[in-house]
Amino acid sequence: MRKLVAGNWKMHGTRRDAAAWVEAMRAAPLPDYDWLVCPPATLVAEFARLLEGSGIAVGGQDCHAAAGGAHTGDISAAMLRDAGATAVILGHSERRTNHGETDGTVHAKVSAALAAGLLPIVCVGETAAERRAGHAHEVVARQMAGSLPDGFAGVVAYEPIWAIGTGMTPTLQEVGEIHTHIRRLLGPEIRILYGGSVKPDNAAALFAVPEVEGGLIGGASLSGADFRAIGSAAR
Ligand code: PGA
Repeated sequence: MRKLVAGNWKMHGTRRDAAAWVEAMRAAPLPDYDWLVCPPATLVAEFARLLEGSGIAVGGQDCHAAAGGAHTGDISAAMLRDAGATAVILGHSERRTNHGETDGTVHAKVSAALAAGLLPIVCVGETAAERRAGHAHEVVARQMAGSLPDGFAGVVAYEPIWAIGTGMTPTLQEVGEIHTHIRRLLGPEIRILYGGSVKPDNAAALFAVPEVEGGLIGGASLSGADFRAIGSAAR
């Protein structure tokens, strides 16, 4: 399957950072993958404008399940779409932890994203304690069963929580085992990404694991040079 290289800027970045990043990404032709950057909501329209014709798509990091209404501080899937986004990350572990999002919350948001024409990128992954206890496969199966509506047409990102922002990653064998497990549960059509401490120096090995069809990159996506280097490793 065609690889997807997706950046998650989290709560980082100003318009100045966006301009510098786009300049770095546009400096030379990019390998022919699907490229995506998911900046904070304040920068979605700015990125969409700067990236026009670049082949790099723009996504949100979250959306509300409702189409509109009295939800101070929230944004809808249709608003992201209107600002120029074509995708949205949903159920990231930081949303699940910081905002108490359950599989049910994520399920509703995925449906809203699909209805608005956004590609949902749904994150699943176990804690360190769950992995130590041998429950990683069971945890991601439960998260997917709860978070993905019937007939789900989107992307799943496997992101072990203990690997996010820590510099630690599972072994390549562990990544292969859990991606194969996810593939068996989801069937052949769904693209499966790996996320969690992907860097320029480990990306080639991670992306070469069977059933790893790209990456969701946090910290290292903030640097255009690093993000480009990671993406170029996806061959
Ligand atoms: P990281 O984050 O690459 O900084 O570990 C990944 C993510 O949270 O999507």
